[in-house]
Amino acid sequence: MTDTDQATTKPASLLADALVRISQEVDACFDTVLPVPGDPRDRLYEAMRYAAIGGGKRLRPLLVTAVSGLFAIDRNVAVRVGSAIEAIHVYSLIHDDLPCMDDDSLRHGKPTVHLAYDEATAVLAGDSLLSLAFEILSDPALIGDPFTRIELVRTLAMASGAGGMAGGQMMDMVAESTAFDLSTVTRLQQLKTGALLGAAVEMGAILGKIPPEGRTHLRGYARDIGLAFQIVDDLLDAEGDEQMAGKALRKDADAGKQTFVSLLGVDRARAQARHLVDQAIDYLASYGEEADLLRAVARFIVDRDR
Ligand code: IPE
Ligand code: IPE
Ligand code: MG
Ligand code: MG
Ligand code: MG
Repeated sequence: MTDTDQATTKPASLLADALVRISQEVDACFDTVLPVPGDPRDRLYEAMRYAAIGGGKRLRPLLVTAVSGLFAIDRNVAVRVGSAIEAIHVYSLIHDDLPCMDDDSLRHGKPTVHLAYDEATAVLAGDSLLSLAFEILSDPALIGDPFTRIELVRTLAMASGAGGMAGGQMMDMVAESTAFDLSTVTRLQQLKTGALLGAAVEMGAILGKIPPEGRTHLRGYARDIGLAFQIVDDLLDAEGDEQMAGKALRKDADAGKQTFVSLLGVDRARAQARHLVDQAIDYLASYGEEADLLRAVARFIVDRDR
């Protein structure tokens, strides 16, 4: 193999290996923390396991482990913290798919939770995954230092609620009936999607005990990949392959939803996503090859087909 071959194949396998590894680790974590109790709550636990195990790209846990890799954090701790964020993400998807929100029937290539179970169970499974996230994070056996523990809890709480993901979901609902301008759509996307992706990066830095003033570059990286990520989600909705995505597409235009694609058109939206990813990678300039996985994740965000 020539040097050039190595330079081009290394990032691809670095990312592919990392995606496989994190998927296995997150599945194992949820399997451990969600044993079916063998009592009248079984249906709830089964629905949580159905949603949380064996699906999704696991991008948020991948970001936690990739940032933790810069600071030599214990891998098991990073995986647990990443799984806490993923629990919030999975809850947000269960509720996002409900008839009162996007009314979707397919997620990760399987029937959505309210169809596989029922609506009440889906609401409770989402609620319970939200609580599970904080149960995992607040465990003193996971993170001994109480300052680090509470900073992680607070960061995830702020990214999940009305000032973060849930607030973005509210704006997304309003976007079906109101004409938003580009800066309002940007704000919507930053809350709906950017907040949790940003929390994943931030929580990696918190585990590394990096003080807030030392996190500026990582925050810039997170902001840009977060926005690029949602632009690509909207592009996939407009022109992706449903089989590959494992979910129904062409939903946004049908719902009359304002997105980057509806405002800019496909070509300019794609150019904007690419520009954001280049800018995100520039934020990592002070790191050496220890940040190659973060660079590869940024590229994956625009090049993905699912
Ligand atoms: C989909 O997120 C929902 C949004 C936040 C846009 P992902 O594409 O990260 O979902 P999975 O878990 O990998 O399917
Ligand atoms: C969902 O956004 C975002 C959250 C669940 C926070 P979308 O509604 O665009 O996600 P998909 O396209 O259904 O995955
Ligand atoms: Mg939605
Ligand atoms: Mg949806
Ligand atoms: Mg979407």
